[in-house]
Amino acid sequence: MKEKVCNKVAEIFEEISYEQIYEMMEIPTDEKMGDYAIPCFALAKLWHKNPVLIAKEMKEMLEPYSEELGIEKLENVGGYCNIFVNRAKYVEAIMEQMQQDFGVKKSGIGKTICMDYSSPNIAKNFHVGHLRTTIIGNSLYKLHEKQGYQVVRINHLGDWGTQFGKLIVAYKNWSSKEAVEENGIEELMRIYVKFNTEKDVHPELMEEARAWFVRMEQNDEEALAIWNWFKEISMVEYERVYKLLGVSFDSYIGESFYRDKVPALVAELEEKGLLKESQGAKIIDLSEYDMAPCLITKSDGGSIYHSRDIAAILYRKKTYDFEKCLYVTGSEQSLHFKQVFKAIELMGYEWHDSLVHVPYGLVSLEGAKLSTRTGNIVYAEDILKEATERAMKAIQEKNPNLPDKETVAKQVGVGAVIFHDLYNQRIKNVNFSWDEVLSFEGTTGPYVQYTYARAKSILRKCGGMQEMTSIDYGALTDDISFTLVKTLLGYEEAIANAVERYEPSVVARYLIALATAFNRFYHECPILQADETKKQARLLLVDMVQQVIKDACGLLDMECPEEM
Ligand code: ARG
Repeated sequence: MKEKVCNKVAEIFEEISYEQIYEMMEIPTDEKMGDYAIPCFALAKLWHKNPVLIAKEMKEMLEPYSEELGIEKLENVGGYCNIFVNRAKYVEAIMEQMQQDFGVKKSGIGKTICMDYSSPNIAKNFHVGHLRTTIIGNSLYKLHEKQGYQVVRINHLGDWGTQFGKLIVAYKNWSSKEAVEENGIEELMRIYVKFNTEKDVHPELMEEARAWFVRMEQNDEEALAIWNWFKEISMVEYERVYKLLGVSFDSYIGESFYRDKVPALVAELEEKGLLKESQGAKIIDLSEYDMAPCLITKSDGGSIYHSRDIAAILYRKKTYDFEKCLYVTGSEQSLHFKQVFKAIELMGYEWHDSLVHVPYGLVSLEGAKLSTRTGNIVYAEDILKEATERAMKAIQEKNPNLPDKETVAKQVGVGAVIFHDLYNQRIKNVNFSWDEVLSFEGTTGPYVQYTYARAKSILRKCGGMQEMTSIDYGALTDDISFTLVKTLLGYEEAIANAVERYEPSVVARYLIALATAFNRFYHECPILQADETKKQARLLLVDMVQQVIKDACGLLDMECPEEM
């Protein structure tokens, strides 16, 4: 309808384009001011005319077309032309539009997006920060896929670097095959911490560690075998977390894959005159751009995080010909990505602006900052398990006869953690507080899931949705039902907005708005007791709401139990 009105306005007033008027049109916050409003102030400036007069003219010109545009009435308030839609017609149009995959525009068809997220560091625990990149990245993947994009999900494992030399030395001195096999990453972390304290007393340890890493870089069999084994041990633990979250990847090609691609990169940079020597290391000077230099090789010639990332970009571009490549990491890596993207730009690749860093804020637990160094480590797996246990306890208290309690507890517990992570703007720091995460009221995952289960329960009580031949949409024109219908229409916009800003929180917030509008409808508009016409129309609305909740939760990768 908005499109129709804009077309008409552009037709009547030749000086205004369709796009201009589309941009201008507002949805008034107060429904008494109409369903749409055209503010005429910008036009007044343009035409040197009183906005009140323009608004009046606008109203008079549109009035004859009311019927054809689906307008109920037009009103002038100040410089606004307010539009009240014909509700029954409008509801019918929205419900029809929702039938086609909720009106989602498939703007990504034929385009490939690479997404680099999760990417934990081998031999280190999968902590709450990695949980965030995994959850945000996974949701961005689902959102893009919804719009038709082909998404390549890349887990750029941190599986190369001098720390592995240290780990090998530590392993040889203070651990054993059995201990690592039994305690996994915890044992690797223990000996890594021990190495870091011991090296202060025994500096020769550092020499040994360096030597082991050199052996790794020279493809020494023993060194690589130990490294590979550490990697396997770590992967088993990461996979457990991924399984709990229901997350998977298309590629696990990590940093180690790019180490032998760096010499070609060095040659290219040299040829393009971009490399400088600095104390034996090779760097790209970025002082002109107010940035610290981008290190390419260390003084021993080895690759580093930056150069492996640059090599990865070139490889991905060649392999996937991406339209965009997104990186979801903590905001503390912003400078790193600025440097790396700048390097690509200086190399003359005009597609450099298709590289996007998507940063997120820090996570703290009940107010305490988390850090490996201070020993305040929280394993992601423990959080997911504890959430599940707490959900189980709540079920035992509130609904002990619920079938398949274990599955529901997992869906609610994990869903709660996911939703909590995605509800706030990603750049904001997150404080993880148990009471907040698992509450059944307020802006939480369980609240949304509960709303879904409620809608499903209504449908079950009516024996499911029947074939309906004719629906009286007039039965959905009261203020509360109409608001709910309009909220449904907002789903497409929420998705588009979330994709445009790489911001899943838009969808999480949309879900809360929808759940709130639905619960109000549920309390104020009886369904089962209503007369047959109203009942049918209201059921149709309930059915559409549950479909949208489930679909939107899917975009956050949150499951919806049928009963709670
Ligand atoms: N492994 C890094 C970390 O845990 C994240 C890697 C992000 N991706 C990348 N291409 N640099 O902090």
